[in-house]
Amino acid sequence: MSLHQELDKLRGKALTDLKQIKDQDSLMALRIKYLGRKGELASIMALLKQVAKEERPQLGKLVNQVKRELEIAFLRVSKTIGDRKSQGIDFTLPGIKPPIGHLHPLMRVQRELEDLFRSMGFMVLDGPELESEYYNFESLNIPIWHPARDMQDTFYIKGGKPDNRWLLRTHTSAMQVRALEKYGAPLRAVVPGRVFRYEATDASHDHTFWQLEGLVVDKDISIANLIGTMKVFLSGIFQREVEVRLRPGYFPFVEPGFELDMKCLVCNGLGCRSCKQSGWIELIGCGLVHPRVLEFGGLNPKEYSGFAFGLGLSRLVMMRYKIDDIRLLLSGDLRFLEQF
Ligand code: DAH
Repeated sequence: MSLHQELDKLRGKALTDLKQIKDQDSLMALRIKYLGRKGELASIMALLKQVAKEERPQLGKLVNQVKRELEIAFLRVSKTIGDRKSQGIDFTLPGIKPPIGHLHPLMRVQRELEDLFRSMGFMVLDGPELESEYYNFESLNIPIWHPARDMQDTFYIKGGKPDNRWLLRTHTSAMQVRALEKYGAPLRAVVPGRVFRYEATDASHDHTFWQLEGLVVDKDISIANLIGTMKVFLSGIFQREVEVRLRPGYFPFVEPGFELDMKCLVCNGLGCRSCKQSGWIELIGCGLVHPRVLEFGGLNPKEYSGFAFGLGLSRLVMMRYKIDDIRLLLSGDLRFLEQF
């Protein structure tokens, strides 16, 4: 058989074989068989050397023609059977969900509260976490000798003045006088934020937690305004009636002062570790703004009055989602966080 004939035979065989091909793997095998470095076409090319010199150019041209034709044929088949991946796809399988984050339950509740209070005409303010003794204590009628400073022991920071040191704020109340200084009266503001205490931690106490402060100052503000506002916001946030009780409470910056407790939703009032077995959760401290605080804020207490409240935002989140250990909130544990 002449080289010419052999070439023709190879061409025919390759094209017939190609017709049987149904997937990329066998296509690749076939390509190696015919067009590979040690394939059939290559061995014919090797024989070219033995051919008479005059015939060589013409035969060489023919070999190249066949090679190009086969390459195009292989390419065409490759395109029609598609790529390796698309062959095995089952389009009915559920997709792979890319892991994306979501709001922390604290932030979700905080934003809901902000919306709620905005709808009642409140400003939403932000305040510094690194605060001075003056705003955190002094201006709230808690002088240096006051025992309330011990109850809110905190982390003092180097620097500041000996009589006005820097500290991590123990409550969002520290924004009361700052807000009065900046905006004056009438004022309606809430201040959500992170606060800190030097504290032995347990299921209901952490060294870092969230509060939401509220301050309303205007003419003729009374306890009725305070209680009305608390009711609206609690039913707004829980979307149902919740049982609350009001008892006298002492805070140096309000007079009279109250503690508003909510029936524990984790145990439904039966007693559990998040309510210290009492069935009630201390949720809000509140009262009528103390005249001295109004004075510190540059207002005349004979002209203006107001109410203030401090809501335990972390506690509220615990009630809302029935979380029985406050420390979970900042644990960073994904097994916890992924439940929300
Ligand atoms: N700042 C208080 C605390 O952290 C809570 C509080 C009580 C805030 C009474 C108030 C208030 O505005 O009127 O314990």
